[in-house]
Amino acid sequence: MAAGSAGEQNLPEIVCYEKQNDIGGMWNYTWRTGLDKNGEPVHGSMYRYLWSNGPKECLEFADYSFDDHFNRSIPSYPPREVLKDYIMGRIDKRAIFKYIQFESPARWITYDDATEKFTVTVMNHKSDEQETEEFDYVVVATGHFSTPNMPYFEGLEQFPGRVLHAHDFRDALEFNGAEVLLIGSSYSAEDIGTQCYKYGAKSVSISYRSAPLGFEWPEGIEERPLLTHLEDSVAHFADGTSKKFDAIIMCTGYLFHFPFLPDELRLQTHNCLYPDNLYKGIFFQNNPKLIYLGMQDQYFTFNMFDAQAWYVRDVILGKIQLPDADQRLQDMQQWLKRKDTLETANESIDFQGQYVRDLIDATDYPDFPIEKQTELLKSWLLDKEEDILGFRNKSYRSTITGTLAAKLPKPWLDIKDDSLEGFMALKFEVPEEKVA
Ligand SMILES: Cc1cc2nc3c(=O)[nH]c(=O)nc-3n(C[C@H](O)[C@H](O)[C@H](O)COP(=O)(O)OP(=O)(O)OC[C@H]3O[C@@H](n4cnc5c(N)ncnc54)[C@H](O)[C@@H]3O)c2cc1C
Ligand SMILES: NC(=O)c1ccc[n+]([C@@H]2O[C@H](COP(=O)([O-])OP(=O)(O)OC[C@H]3O[C@@H](n4cnc5c(N)ncnc54)[C@H](OP(=O)(O)O)[C@@H]3O)[C@@H](O)[C@H]2O)c1
Repeated sequence: MAAGSAGEQNLPEIVCYEKQNDIGGMWNYTWRTGLDKNGEPVHGSMYRYLWSNGPKECLEFADYSFDDHFNRSIPSYPPREVLKDYIMGRIDKRAIFKYIQFESPARWITYDDATEKFTVTVMNHKSDEQETEEFDYVVVATGHFSTPNMPYFEGLEQFPGRVLHAHDFRDALEFNGAEVLLIGSSYSAEDIGTQCYKYGAKSVSISYRSAPLGFEWPEGIEERPLLTHLEDSVAHFADGTSKKFDAIIMCTGYLFHFPFLPDELRLQTHNCLYPDNLYKGIFFQNNPKLIYLGMQDQYFTFNMFDAQAWYVRDVILGKIQLPDADQRLQDMQQWLKRKDTLETANESIDFQGQYVRDLIDATDYPDFPIEKQTELLKSWLLDKEEDILGFRNKSYRSTITGTLAAKLPKPWLDIKDDSLEGFMALKFEVPEEKVA
């Protein structure tokens, strides 16, 4: 619960500087690529026909269930607009908008050891002026899936077709009838690859660096080892094979990019389950008044961000005292050591579940069955292994309400209209059974 609505007195003054002109972060879909209307790098990496890639039962808010929002059972894998609708339903916009200054990207932040304050400079695009304010705490919640990691391969400059990063991918129909090469073998490659297939690409080839995704692909999708070089429109791969392509999509992940932070405050890490130098995965070790949210690789998402936010709230309100630097270091090192022993995806899921448990046990965040959700995530992996094009047809039971998700009336592969209205108008098969 928000501290204000819980009757907390002496709330600190809060200012949220947001680069975009609305709330929703990554879920605030944009057709734009490149720069936004203010000349700022576009934040959004989502694309038109994106559906949740994990079951909604694993990202359900503990204090706002899908049943609360939709008043009916909906399938386990909602499309983007449906998930966004759910997230927005939990927010009292009037209550939060007064704290947010839109179209105001952070430009530069410094910390003064003498005054123990941060100085934050933002560009207010609405007034076309730079503004500077002082704060006791700074929370960096800028996400880490927006700045493309764009590798170079010999011959790219002569490739005659489109070369783009997943960050700039918007509409799979653009690749209808095309032979598409994807570089990378993680979620973006898997999802953009299957989506291009769904919307009529002639062929999809996924080129991996470390390991293939390894699914049983239908005819029309294949995996190849790493691209070595290009000759005109022909790609050559590490196993000596070659193929001609119309377009190349780099699904090569994202850089952690904080151009508004000096080196001594800047988190330097990569996409992993426990970034170094963050106590509780949140508080910057060199200066714990600098707080980073959501910097982990993510099996858990919304509920993990919640757990972090509740913890931060209690630290700022003085309800939780942070230990000294040595104790923080020891705690961090325990987690980092455990992270280094993780070998399987199931172990990684358990690790992140335990991390979320550690956080929520320290605050009044409503307890929720994290351990049941870790089991759901493991089933999700098996479902994908069994049928990478069919896993979204499965239904799970909510660990919060016990409601079994409705079934899609036809396979995900055949549902092309995934707008909020289109999806909610589908005749879901609603299971009657409910567990108390
Ligand atoms: C393609 C894609 C698909 C995904 N699909 C799913 C999914 O299906 N389910 C799921 O649970 N998660 C999904 N995720 C994970 C997603 O990252 C999280 O769900 C969530 O959006 C992360 O929240 P966040 O607040 O940390 O970051 P974001 O949502 O990225 O929000 C960061 C905010 O910071 C703002 N910002 C950035 N820089 C500045 C600056 N300098 N000054 C001021 N403001 C700034 C941005 O405008 C943005 O509003 C997906 C991610 C990607 C990239
Ligand atoms: N539908 C959805 O919900 C959806 C869809 C897409 C993405 N997402 C989310 O978006 C986030 C980011 O996923 P992501 O797949 O973009 O990033 P990612 O998980 O960080 O994976 C990056 C991939 O790029 C590869 N790579 C990096 N540099 C490379 C290089 N130089 N050459 C070849 N390959 C290289 C990596 O290979 P190595 O394995 O060798 O390192 C890895 O396979 C995830 O949280 C995911 O859940 C969600």
